[in-house]
Amino acid sequence: MSEDWRVGGFGVYVHWPFCLAKCPYCDFNSHVRGGIDEGRWRRALVDQVADAARQVPGRVVNSIFFGGGTPSLMPPETVAAVIAAIRTGWQLADGLEITLEANPTSVEAGRFRAFRDAGVNRISMGIQALNDDALRRLGRMHNVAEAIEAFEIARATFERVSFDLIYARQGQSLAQWREELGRAISLAVDHLSLYQLTIETGTRFGDLHARGRLRDLPDQELSADMYALTQEVCDAAGMGGYEISNHARPGAESRHNLIYWRYGDYAGIGPGAHGRLSIGGSRWAVESTRSPEAWLGAVETKATGPNMRSEIDGLDQGSEMLMMGLRLREGIDLDRYEHLAGRELSETLLSNLSEIGLLARSGNRISTTASGRIVLDSVLKVLINQ
Ligand SMILES: C[S@@+](CC[C@H](N)C(=O)[O-])C[C@H]1O[C@@H](n2cnc3c(N)ncnc32)[C@H](O)[C@@H]1O
Ligand code: SF4
Repeated sequence: MSEDWRVGGFGVYVHWPFCLAKCPYCDFNSHVRGGIDEGRWRRALVDQVADAARQVPGRVVNSIFFGGGTPSLMPPETVAAVIAAIRTGWQLADGLEITLEANPTSVEAGRFRAFRDAGVNRISMGIQALNDDALRRLGRMHNVAEAIEAFEIARATFERVSFDLIYARQGQSLAQWREELGRAISLAVDHLSLYQLTIETGTRFGDLHARGRLRDLPDQELSADMYALTQEVCDAAGMGGYEISNHARPGAESRHNLIYWRYGDYAGIGPGAHGRLSIGGSRWAVESTRSPEAWLGAVETKATGPNMRSEIDGLDQGSEMLMMGLRLREGIDLDRYEHLAGRELSETLLSNLSEIGLLARSGNRISTTASGRIVLDSVLKVLINQ
């Protein structure tokens, strides 16, 4: 069981928790702060990479991902220092993927080149909408023209680029989404992340929604139609959905996210970052202190340390593997589940879910169908609580 992580490989996630403004829909661990002490942040991130390398030495790193927040606000020297620390701590795989999430407002060509020179080879950009009104309603600090310009600079600078869009927005019709998606595909290179707007509690949109003041959101039926349309249009363009919200030309999938979805191991560096590490025959969930200031203080004082570790038992590992793997079109291996969880999935349940068109079975693998992926939470509930 201790070597199970090798199915997915090993990656490093680095969280930069700062943004220029907080978007009203976003519940990521992101904060607006002035006067960030860049030197302290650089030293703390480097310290935490070294700490993780001591816990899981001898690994080959398949991917590094700078997420946020807005990591394109990081000083390129910090990105370079973190990559150097990862190189010191572990061996780097041939063809290592190094992704940085970029916001179209913080982009300028000089900084992009410096990120590239630091080793970044893939950009994932949050464009969110190709409609100026929608961008305003989403509280974004860029318009469509600025976003496209930033994306063109990224395309010219990096080997691999992707962008995010949010759909099922207020007042958006199916016809409008079809048109917007067509435009996105014409701009895209080989990867797109297309998310349905989720109203998260604790965000500004969450509060407005609770007070009945977030009008014109699509109902469940229209949202499902939008999802189906997304699959159809992307499939036809040769950018099939390899995961619920992610579309790529074959071979252009995000290797980093595949590590999560294939239930590999990953070190999480930075405030609120999560990790999964296999150590001494057990698998551990690692979670870091969320508050940026508390995290920085805990790293510097070493008194408590910023990371909480808890052991994941076999049954929960099986459940996590299902939750991740059934997001993917490729699905999961039933033997692997049995090996981790110490039990088999019920044949009766599997055939019932297949009969109603939510699961597909091929030899020893099961995967969700497109209809199954829309109701993934219900499918998982049935399988996990069997
Ligand atoms: C951590 S954000 C990073 C991107 C970058 N900070 C930006 O906003 O441009 C990752 C992506 O999650 C998506 N996202 C965040 N909150 C969402 C929500 N409530 N519903 C749907 N998608 C969301 C957005 O598309 C966003 O680009
Ligand atoms: S969507 Fe991106 S820019 Fe907006 S608050 Fe979240 S992390 Fe920051």
